[in-house]
Amino acid sequence: MIALLALWACDGDTDGPTAPTDAPADTGDTGDGLVHDPLSMPASPTLDPARFRDAESCRACHPDHVREWKTSMHAYAMHDPLFQALVEQRQVDLEGREDQFCTQCHSAIGTRGGEITSGFSFAELSPIVMEGITCTACHQVEEVVRTRNSGHRLQQDGPMRATIADPIDTPAHASEAADFMGSSEFCGACHDVVETDGLDLERPYQEWLDSPAKAEGTGCQGCHMPTTRRALVDGGPERDAHDHRWVGVDEPLTDGFLTAQELDDLRAGTRELLTGAAALTVDAPATVEVGRTFDLTLTVENRIPAHNLPTGSTFVRQVWLEVVVTDAAGDVVYETGTLDANGDLRDHWSELDPYGDADLLSFSSRLIDHQAAPTVFTWIADEHASTTLPPGYVRTATLFVPTDDVGTWPLTVSARLRFRALPPYLLRLTGLGDRALQVPIHDLATATTEVAQR
Ligand code: HEC
Ligand code: HEC
Ligand code: HEC
Ligand code: HEC
Ligand code: HEC
Repeated sequence: MIALLALWACDGDTDGPTAPTDAPADTGDTGDGLVHDPLSMPASPTLDPARFRDAESCRACHPDHVREWKTSMHAYAMHDPLFQALVEQRQVDLEGREDQFCTQCHSAIGTRGGEITSGFSFAELSPIVMEGITCTACHQVEEVVRTRNSGHRLQQDGPMRATIADPIDTPAHASEAADFMGSSEFCGACHDVVETDGLDLERPYQEWLDSPAKAEGTGCQGCHMPTTRRALVDGGPERDAHDHRWVGVDEPLTDGFLTAQELDDLRAGTRELLTGAAALTVDAPATVEVGRTFDLTLTVENRIPAHNLPTGSTFVRQVWLEVVVTDAAGDVVYETGTLDANGDLRDHWSELDPYGDADLLSFSSRLIDHQAAPTVFTWIADEHASTTLPPGYVRTATLFVPTDDVGTWPLTVSARLRFRALPPYLLRLTGLGDRALQVPIHDLATATTEVAQR
């Protein structure tokens, strides 16, 4: 029998008359029985999607930005089959009362433009709405109103805004430097997600506010939009061009969204981002008497100075410790964090071995419904319980490993801190089971040690 005592410890713990904006036209309570927000989920349209130019229209002059954006999760946001499946489930469960909620960030243009209303269907949306977080959804932001739930004001005929103070004139568009485009607030306006009942779902911006990165003046762009020095347009001066791939941990599930080469590049980018994100140590006694149980002490540190590990959609991400102890013949003496035949962790969600891994050490978060049962649906969640690691935090756990069944000594202890964007059970639950095993597992850190017979 394997006993566990996991001891968790933390070490310190303006628009001109010709340029209309989508200013609030109504209040949240419009009497139609639907959930609205005057800025981001308006009851009547506050902008016209047809007035927003698509990404293709930028290509002639900004080919690199377009090429990079097309491989990004921002371009994927409305095509994501997992997103679509969850939105459709919410439409059914809530009988269309909150159909603008999920799309307010994934397509602000569609949600504010009247295409996304109660009972909408993805198949009927126009191409600019399906472009999701397209160029103009960011570059025609006029102001950051709040740092959550699509907190931007958009200006449909406004200038293109970034941080170049002296842009070369172009007949294609007016340009304007806006400091907020270089700020974390700009990203936080979409990246911090709060459910309609007030439950915090995602909060990288809130996490960043207390972080060493903020103190040093490094915002989201500093890590997620690295720069290269080059001319933006032929014959123009050299500028700091910002990477528009927004490498994170996720990758598209739809065939053909990326070429094989683009997918390789994205995965390489993810591996690079994850390098050095965490540190892992494992301590065990050098020798143990046969038959005695010994302590394995593991420490995990979040080395990302900016936000928790993981952050964002932590309730779908999986970060966990795999620890396998083998004897000299290679037979497994002890294991935790290993997968069942479906590729799932052996926790609540495993179909083959539910709760079969009592020692499992997880660093993500769980949504819990009003009956205290785990759920993946944010709209029925009452509680969001997180074991993510804040910046710089170290967490220590002790596992107890019995040695009664050891054949041949010495023992080898192998530990890995593993990361997976999407678990197989979630994909099966949302009708995407055929994609379940294509999601890669990244090892953030590994550690090994040996234990000899005393
Ligand atoms: C006909 C060429 C052309 C087209 C088409 C074009 N741009 Fe530009 N854009 C430029 C030039 C030139 C600059 C200035 C570059 C410089 O100063 O180095 C610029 C600058 C910008 C800036 C920086 C503004 C600032 O002051 O920081 C943004 C943002 C931008 N463009 C976005 C877009 C988007 C989005 C599209 C498509 C909807 C687009 N552009 C289409 C030529 C073009
Ligand atoms: C110091 C560099 C750094 C800064 C600054 C930074 N990040 Fe990250 N970010 C990372 C690393 C490393 C990862 C990969 C590990 C992870 O997922 O937590 C990551 C992952 C992410 C992810 C994917 C998380 C997931 O697991 O789904 C999102 C979303 C994200 N960051 C958003 C932000 C936002 C928003 C900001 C600004 C408030 C920000 N980041 C600032 C380094 C940084
Ligand atoms: C998620 C929001 C977002 C989207 C989508 C987006 N951009 Fe940007 N873009 C930015 C930010 C933020 C900056 C400036 C970063 C800074 O200065 O710190 C920027 C900068 C730029 C610049 C100025 C040069 C540079 O690299 O700094 C150009 C040109 C540009 N973007 C074009 C585009 C085009 C074309 C698209 C669509 C293919 C696009 N952007 C999509 C956020 C976005
Ligand atoms: C208009 C809303 C919006 C804005 C503004 C925005 N994002 Fe995002 N971002 C999203 C959404 C939605 C996704 C996920 C799309 C999906 O996978 O379905 C995303 C995905 C990402 C990812 C990929 C995460 C992963 O797990 O791979 C990164 C990294 C990221 N954003 C960084 C940024 C940064 C940095 C900024 C600010 C410069 C920014 N975003 C601005 C909405 C936004
Ligand atoms: C406040 C803006 C916002 C709202 C509202 C929002 N999202 Fe997102 N969504 C994001 C951002 C930002 C990310 C990227 C986070 C990350 O990668 O960690 C994201 C990522 C996702 C992903 C990608 C996860 C993956 O790995 O493929 C899915 C699926 C998703 N959202 C579904 C939904 C659903 C369903 C709703 C409604 C219940 C919703 N979102 C509401 C901003 C939002």
